[in-house]
Amino acid sequence: MRRRMSCSAVLVAAVVVVVAAVMAGQAAGELARVEHLPSKEDGSLTVLAVGDWGRKGQYNQTLVATQMGVIGEQVDADFIVSTGDNFYNDGLTGDNDTASFQASFTDIYTAVSLQKPWYIVLGNHDYTGDALAQQSAAIRAVDSRWTSVNKSFIVDAGIAEFFLVDTSPFVLKYWNESKYDWRQVAPRDTYLSNLLTDLGDALSQSNATWKIVVGHHTISSGCEHGNTSDLVAMLLPVIKANGADMYLNGHDHCLQRITSIDSPLQLVTSGGGSKAWAGKFKSTSDKLEFIYDGQGFLSMRLTEAEASFAFYDVAGAVLHSWELTKTTSTN
Ligand SMILES: *[C@@H]1O[C@H](CO)[C@@H](O)[C@H](O)[C@H]1NC(C)=O
Ligand SMILES: *[C@@H]1O[C@H](CO)[C@@H](O)[C@H](O)[C@H]1NC(C)=O
Ligand SMILES: *[C@@H]1O[C@H](CO)[C@@H](O)[C@H](O)[C@H]1NC(C)=O
Ligand SMILES: *[C@@H]1O[C@H](CO)[C@@H](O)[C@H](O)[C@H]1NC(C)=O
Ligand SMILES: *[C@@H]1O[C@H](CO)[C@@H](O)[C@H](O)[C@H]1NC(C)=O
Ligand SMILES: *[C@@H]1O[C@H](CO)[C@@H](O)[C@H](O)[C@H]1NC(C)=O
Repeated sequence: MRRRMSCSAVLVAAVVVVVAAVMAGQAAGELARVEHLPSKEDGSLTVLAVGDWGRKGQYNQTLVATQMGVIGEQVDADFIVSTGDNFYNDGLTGDNDTASFQASFTDIYTAVSLQKPWYIVLGNHDYTGDALAQQSAAIRAVDSRWTSVNKSFIVDAGIAEFFLVDTSPFVLKYWNESKYDWRQVAPRDTYLSNLLTDLGDALSQSNATWKIVVGHHTISSGCEHGNTSDLVAMLLPVIKANGADMYLNGHDHCLQRITSIDSPLQLVTSGGGSKAWAGKFKSTSDKLEFIYDGQGFLSMRLTEAEASFAFYDVAGAVLHSWELTKTTSTN
């Protein structure tokens, strides 16, 4: 039997809808997604990754860029991932700061092979400028390669999914300083708990063969900055529990590969895009497989069955390479 809602019931229902809408603005949801399916006939995917680069060509940024262009052509790169610290020292000043954007990005990565989408996370140096500018339509209009659809988002590449995570808000000590742009981030606790929920959901629901989490800050590192304890405490458990194959970061200006001592996770730093941390090391109790304190970048080739990785130096020489394999389920 149908009943008419009383006036107060209608009012209560309306209030519930409004409250739900307000809460949805701050609640966990789904991370934004970009689809970039492999286009090669053999179904493989090739990706370059570079971090800590934007210095208007200085500190060998231009040399690294040149070699990325050469290797990018050899491997026929599908796209490029930036692990953050895109513009030194203080990010972009606003969405009209096209001069800095062009001088550190458009005018540097000019090779034909690098005219592909660049998927971007922000570093701490991006956060001390206008941290929203890098996601703006105005900046993207200057160079359509630039793909920063949100501070955290997913690149769905079919056989692989890349989970780009905004790591600066995790670092508690930054919140003690006034220079960080926390618009659309504060309050920290809500932002982090929503992000971790969304990331955990996306990782656990992913059907991709390879799950690669990308952030700016280190989790485990043998370079200058060492571990980021806030990420060890909060992010690491989520990515371990949900079967990520790799965590890829910048922040430390070096190239390194670490194997987790208690999980299959590989922890990879590609932060050699310009100024290098020559001769500065820290210890980690994880297994350090390779470390190089000069400039360079990472290349990866992924197929359903295997993944191969190589670090290149500023002259384009392979410094270190390794492979991972997936055993096909017989079910
Ligand atoms: C971008 O991320 C914020 C959380 O920082 C979220 O509130 C917003 O809905 C996201 N936008 C899209 C398009 O996913
Ligand atoms: C740039 O790379 C060259 C090697 O090609 C090296 O000798 C030089 O020290 C590097 N410069 C800087 C500023 O890192
Ligand atoms: C960018 O915009 C700001 C504020 O609107 C203004 O003060 C500044 O001069 C502009 N910069 C450029 C390079 O146009
Ligand atoms: C932040 O500042 C407070 C007060 O100075 C200090 O007690 C606290 O240790 C600082 N926290 C971090 C993470 O630096
Ligand atoms: C994974 O596969 C299942 C079953 O085919 C499907 O329902 C689900 O939407 C897929 N997940 C994603 C993230 O595509
Ligand atoms: C760094 O974090 C890793 C967790 O991945 C841990 O195993 C290691 O002991 C930590 N190292 C230091 C020096 O805290």
